[in-house]
Amino acid sequence: MESRQTIDLLVHSAAQLLTLAGGPQRGRALGELGLIEDGAVAIRAGRIAATGSTEDLRRTFSAASELSAAGRVVMPGFVDPHTHLVWAGDRATEFEQRIQGASYLEILEAGGGILSTVRRTRFASLETLLAESRPRLRQMLAYGTTTAEAKTGYGLELEAELRILRAILALDSEGPVELVPTFLPAHAIPQGWQPEEYVALICDQMLPALVVWWARYGQGRPPPFVDVFCELGAFDLSLSRRVLERAHSLGFPLKIHADEFNPLGGTRLAVELGAASADHLLQTPDSELELLGGSDTVAVGLPATPFGLGAASYPPARAILQHGGILALGTDLNPGTAWCESMQFAIGLACRTMGLSPAQAIAATTINAAAAIHRDKSIGSLEPDKQADLLILGVSDFRQLGYRFGTNLVSTVIKKGQIVVAQRTDGLD
Ligand code: NIG
Ligand code: FE
Repeated sequence: MESRQTIDLLVHSAAQLLTLAGGPQRGRALGELGLIEDGAVAIRAGRIAATGSTEDLRRTFSAASELSAAGRVVMPGFVDPHTHLVWAGDRATEFEQRIQGASYLEILEAGGGILSTVRRTRFASLETLLAESRPRLRQMLAYGTTTAEAKTGYGLELEAELRILRAILALDSEGPVELVPTFLPAHAIPQGWQPEEYVALICDQMLPALVVWWARYGQGRPPPFVDVFCELGAFDLSLSRRVLERAHSLGFPLKIHADEFNPLGGTRLAVELGAASADHLLQTPDSELELLGGSDTVAVGLPATPFGLGAASYPPARAILQHGGILALGTDLNPGTAWCESMQFAIGLACRTMGLSPAQAIAATTINAAAAIHRDKSIGSLEPDKQADLLILGVSDFRQLGYRFGTNLVSTVIKKGQIVVAQRTDGLD
């Protein structure tokens, strides 16, 4: 008998194994799960050696340990492509004001909103930032997020922005959730500054300083994304262009908060500059969704944000898909509009408010979300040589994601081949 290859772990007997194999899913192709019944995943040195039927993989591999997923769904870990994970304090008072009718942009204009979180965050020590953000990260992991993007943006001055960036890198090093950093000094105009002056500071001092800082502290990671909040009362289109063009010229990959409240042309700009993603898109005109659909810029829908604001419009998923766009979903975790750590909740909302099927929402939170942060070659699907980041759900049918909401369907989380959330004993089915 020929000898079988050795592996570290065999996850076997999954009722449904969702591989999401085949790369980012564009337009109407969204929702290809690559489903294998009675499926198994072979893991070696933190990576996927193979996926297939339990029978085939047992024949091929000899495993040092085994984990049964009998009667359960196995799928890639969620990738959250848009979070503002690191901040200090909360904005519960503003939540009450908004319920009573104050608008998000009015509160920002009056010096609240993002600026009130800036006042709390700017003077917080690194230790405080870590202590306040770590519990959120733990929740994200418990709900199945194995990789997340995380933005600065509550410092709005170099030293404080870099402290937030340092917190993101420290939390990434702690693990197990992997963090992909984004530099967002262009999140709001700090009090006492004219927009032009502040953009000059970002372009002439902060971004060049980031280049130097990253060479020293980036530990060989790929450079961070640079993002801008393109919005009335924040950065208009020409200021956003200046920030993003400067970042691009310095070699940073780009992201943009576009058309969240007002359509300023941010989506067109994202496509023109080859941004990794354009996020929110609540007010994007059809002509710009068409441009987006013809590009590699990922459309990131954030349905928890209008939900959090009690607003009526949701990301235009159908139009994005009709135009051939690559649609991803994220939480937008932040203290103002969406304190939500759960990608499962984003899926539940997306199915109801964006018309996505559970299969489409799953692809949008895994392989397409990985594309939004330029990580689709290493995570987001279960394919040979990719990182072994996977979930075992406590249910046997993938459609329970989306159908059920408000409870956690994840029972086991495996990150880089290690079991980091142990199987819950309380079955869900
Ligand atoms: O994506 N719109 C800008 N940024 C966040 C909100 C941040 C905040 O209110 O603190 C968003 O919704
Ligand atoms: Fe955001």
